[in-house]
Amino acid sequence: MTEPSRSPAALPPGFPLPFAPRRVVIANALHAEIADRVRAARPDVAVRGGVGPELTDADFAWAEACIGFRRPPHLTSLGGVRWVQSTGAGVDGWLRGAPLDAGILVTRSSELFGAQICEWAIARIFAIQQRVLPLAAAQRERQWAQQVVPRVAGTRALLVGTGDIGRTIATALTALGVHCTGVSRSGRSSHTAFRAMHTLDALPALVGTHDWIIVSLPDTAETRGLVSRAVLSQARGAVLLNAGRGAVVEEAALPEALDAGWLRAAALDVFEQEPLPPDSPLWHDPRVLVSPHMSGLTTAEGAAGAFLECLASLERGELPGWAIDRSRGY
Ligand code: GLV
Repeated sequence: MTEPSRSPAALPPGFPLPFAPRRVVIANALHAEIADRVRAARPDVAVRGGVGPELTDADFAWAEACIGFRRPPHLTSLGGVRWVQSTGAGVDGWLRGAPLDAGILVTRSSELFGAQICEWAIARIFAIQQRVLPLAAAQRERQWAQQVVPRVAGTRALLVGTGDIGRTIATALTALGVHCTGVSRSGRSSHTAFRAMHTLDALPALVGTHDWIIVSLPDTAETRGLVSRAVLSQARGAVLLNAGRGAVVEEAALPEALDAGWLRAAALDVFEQEPLPPDSPLWHDPRVLVSPHMSGLTTAEGAAGAFLECLASLERGELPGWAIDRSRGY
């Protein structure tokens, strides 16, 4: 979701550099594949892995480092772990909820999901614009439902988040003739795909003049609830796409936003609660495209590669380029 942070603020107070952990616990569904890759590259590093309750407090008391997407909720403590390597680009799974000891270093995945999530976004933009699902329904009824489909070219997209994901989507949309505006924390980007850039506080004034609102922000104290009911109420028939984090959008306001016509459709890959609860109205709303947090998937190769790269930096006594700044949350 962001470019690598090299801010010295990312080094936790009292963190020992150089740091050469030799015991690693992997809390991830891909643990066996990640472990194979780590062992092959670094036979001197001992690895344990598992999913959910397969890992116990004793495993974390043994470990010095951990690889995983989120803090295992059943653990009472992270034991001896001084460094957490997130398998996701977003690290909210580690930073939200019970406070993580301030001395723990958090590094993020080095995989860039922009290209993959761009395909997710473009697929949805055209599915919605080309009325793919209603036409498929009409086809099943043998209906010749000819209709005028407005062009995507000439529309306006608001990229809420201009990291690798937002930039990659903006580049593709620009090539398709879409006018792209960016919104970010700093309000600055030198990327040529953005015809204009604004800070996050400009969002309410911008949503009414854009056709596509494309969210790729991480979940931080600053972004949580940013796309609120009040912001949504300023939209004028836009389509909302969210591939960042569910908590950035006020999910409970979406049915009203769709009914009131503030939004004409939504494509959501992330949700406040995942899996999306069975009683969520989003499941069966024909204006909503739900995908199960799969627009940018971590691979075992990427997770192991990021860990090994950060490990090498720490052993050299350097702050890894993928260290996140705990005060910013990304
Ligand atoms: C996936 O959501 C990630 O953060 O990489």
